[in-house]
Amino acid sequence: MKPTPISENIYCLSIHDRRTRLFEGLWPIEKEGITYNSYLIRDEKTVLIDLCKELFQQEYLGELKALVDPASIDYLVVNHMEPDHSGALRAFRELAPQAVILGTPKAVKMMDDFFGLKENIRAVSDGEELELGRHKLRFVSAPMVHWPETMVTYETVSQTLFSCDAFGGYGIPEKGIFDEEYPDLAYFEGESLRYYANIVAAFSKPVLNAGEKLAGVPLRMVAPSHGLVWRKDPGRIVDLYMRWSSYGKGPAEKGVTLLHGSMYGNTEKMVASVKNGLEAAGVPVDAHDVTTTPVSYILPSIWKNQGVVIGAPTYEGTLFPTMQLVLYMAEIKRAFNKQAIYFGSYGWGGGAVRFLKNQFEKMNWELGETLEFAGQAREENLKEAYEMGKRFGKLILEG
Ligand code: FEO
Repeated sequence: MKPTPISENIYCLSIHDRRTRLFEGLWPIEKEGITYNSYLIRDEKTVLIDLCKELFQQEYLGELKALVDPASIDYLVVNHMEPDHSGALRAFRELAPQAVILGTPKAVKMMDDFFGLKENIRAVSDGEELELGRHKLRFVSAPMVHWPETMVTYETVSQTLFSCDAFGGYGIPEKGIFDEEYPDLAYFEGESLRYYANIVAAFSKPVLNAGEKLAGVPLRMVAPSHGLVWRKDPGRIVDLYMRWSSYGKGPAEKGVTLLHGSMYGNTEKMVASVKNGLEAAGVPVDAHDVTTTPVSYILPSIWKNQGVVIGAPTYEGTLFPTMQLVLYMAEIKRAFNKQAIYFGSYGWGGGAVRFLKNQFEKMNWELGETLEFAGQAREENLKEAYEMGKRFGKLILEG
């Protein structure tokens, strides 16, 4: 994609990645894609902020060269060393050996670790400023958003925050890079939440810390390295990220994620009854079959909802493994402090509830009612499931 001016003498170079099947080798993005946004500021000093994934470095450097002679770039700011942004670093260094590369002290070490780069690199300190002429950059350390070396860069004249992963999202803005080009932002906000739950959620406290650090800084534009540039309403994505981060401590939204996985349909038969009960209570319900929906799409639902219903059978004396995987991913993403209920079938003896009790201790989830049945779900089980769903829905709404 051609560079887009986002402000006077500031350009966005956005690579549209439609080739990567799994982001970080984990998260499906085949349908949605992702962008790697890099930014160029032209002034008395010319500065590039962040790069892109190595796979796209030829395309990226071609676009860069069409915009500016790499030999005239004075600085490269590396906000974050994860290779989706730093992958083109060695190729950039060959093209622009004169450019001073700037990053936090930890980023400087990583430049050597990842790329064997040591020359013409300078560590910047938290709050340090760099005069470019008319523009001025301020570097703000943001450890663990999303790696320990991460910082964000603020440009004081345009009041633009180059936030790298923070405030980013999946999805390719086909019509243009700005939020103002999309009257309905629901898709991008949804993909930002999925990105948050997949990539950032485990670091919710550091996100809140960074938010506090930046509170009071005037923002006319939020320019992340993934997804939209928020120019019409920069506060919108900041508010969303702060709200999502707060769910790490709880409470989350008054809604329920209804998860089920079934081997032969006996547990599945209960799903509609539980769902009807939840809906009768008036609580919003988001249902997923864990055997067909990748966990990437389930995590945002778990993250934002206070209630979770687990419907899965006992499998060889423990919980159905596909459901275990979902709970394990929720655990490592630190989706803590939820309320949950359980229903499921067993063949000759339970075990699923025992697993849940252990697992929920690690996540500080409260296990409420459980409804286990041998073999098939009978009429009375379906009625119980409805009532259990209704009680749980009320509990979440009243909580
Ligand atoms: Fe987009 Fe943590 O890298």
